[in-house]
Amino acid sequence: MTNLNLIDRISTMYRATFGDLPAHIVRAPGRVNLLGEHVDYNDGFVLPAAIDRATYLAFSSVNARHSTLAAVDFDQQASFSADSVPTKTQADSSPLPEWALYPAGVMWALMEEGLPVPSMNAVFGSDVPRGSGLSSSASVEMAFVLAWQTLGGWNLPPLRRALLGQKAENRYVGVNCGIMDQFASACGVENRLLLLDCRSLEWKTIPLPEAVSIVIADTTIRRKLTSGEYNKRRAACEEAGRLLKQDLPNIQSLRDVSVEQFNRLADKLPPEIEKRARHVVEEIGRTRQAKALLEAGDVRNFGRLMNECHVSLRDLYEVSCPELNVMVNIAQTLEGCYGARLTGAGFGGCTVNLVAREHAPAFAQELARRYESQTGLHPEIYITRASKGVELLK
Ligand code: GLA
Repeated sequence: MTNLNLIDRISTMYRATFGDLPAHIVRAPGRVNLLGEHVDYNDGFVLPAAIDRATYLAFSSVNARHSTLAAVDFDQQASFSADSVPTKTQADSSPLPEWALYPAGVMWALMEEGLPVPSMNAVFGSDVPRGSGLSSSASVEMAFVLAWQTLGGWNLPPLRRALLGQKAENRYVGVNCGIMDQFASACGVENRLLLLDCRSLEWKTIPLPEAVSIVIADTTIRRKLTSGEYNKRRAACEEAGRLLKQDLPNIQSLRDVSVEQFNRLADKLPPEIEKRARHVVEEIGRTRQAKALLEAGDVRNFGRLMNECHVSLRDLYEVSCPELNVMVNIAQTLEGCYGARLTGAGFGGCTVNLVAREHAPAFAQELARRYESQTGLHPEIYITRASKGVELLK
């Protein structure tokens, strides 16, 4: 589960950069979401799991004005301090590189909270592929929050740390994401799915039925400018809420609109807003059925909800892409597959597949073969395990 090879690489780079060994190492996982897509920022329910891919961060406190960070995946360094962070600049006044906005954003959010953020030397690397819908950014954020907690001598519960990571991403990086990714990375539990109510922030775990595996299939498509499209979807949902409030004055968000109410009022909405909001209202309806189905071991009907979710993301929310559709279409015809859909924000990245355990290896192989023959792209497909949330390894 732990990527010893990556720990070795960051430790070696740490020693090469700073001349000694790191005092600490943190592991912060990515996540995969099984159901409840694009509903977290509508107060809905989500069903993610932390996965066995993670960001690893080696760090020590340093008696200096600036924190100095190196990223193995970029082979670059950045250096910033409490003074330079608000202007998104480095020690030498040059702008922070894009990858450094996440740790710098975390520092900013912690400072806003009045928490001590001592300077650190740090090296990090990740085996969560970037831009793949598996929350590599949230894993970086959660790694740095825990690192600064370790050095700063304060102690916040995991959900509070998740909220600070989300704040960093919303207000510093500029992506208006919901709470799901940071939550999953902070609160993951081994072999469990996490069911979060994004309004009350109450959550429970649900065991994954014994006989199924979660298979992640990476299309290898990476979309640029997804944050712009993402923010537009979110704005459309807010607009739908505002318009529906004229007839339903008691609603706070789309969470409060039933499918029946929505059907009655849908033609009052502009067509694009209607499509976006319909996805959200119906998807929240699907997630309301998920817990009972999973607890009853009814993976067949749960898988059906996953398939419906994909159609809705493709046709109503319009966040799929041809390669994701190819991957899902193939998967759904293969033996042992209960459900397949795109996972995460969309526009490229990965699909999540619920597959009968005994069929999972053959499923992965055949899916890769057919996807490659249809698209010419070489996908990465693997069986994942629900893992623990962010933790201090050393
Ligand atoms: C991204 C965001 C999450 C969530 C998903 C879509 O991963 O960071 O908050 O909105 O997209 O469900």
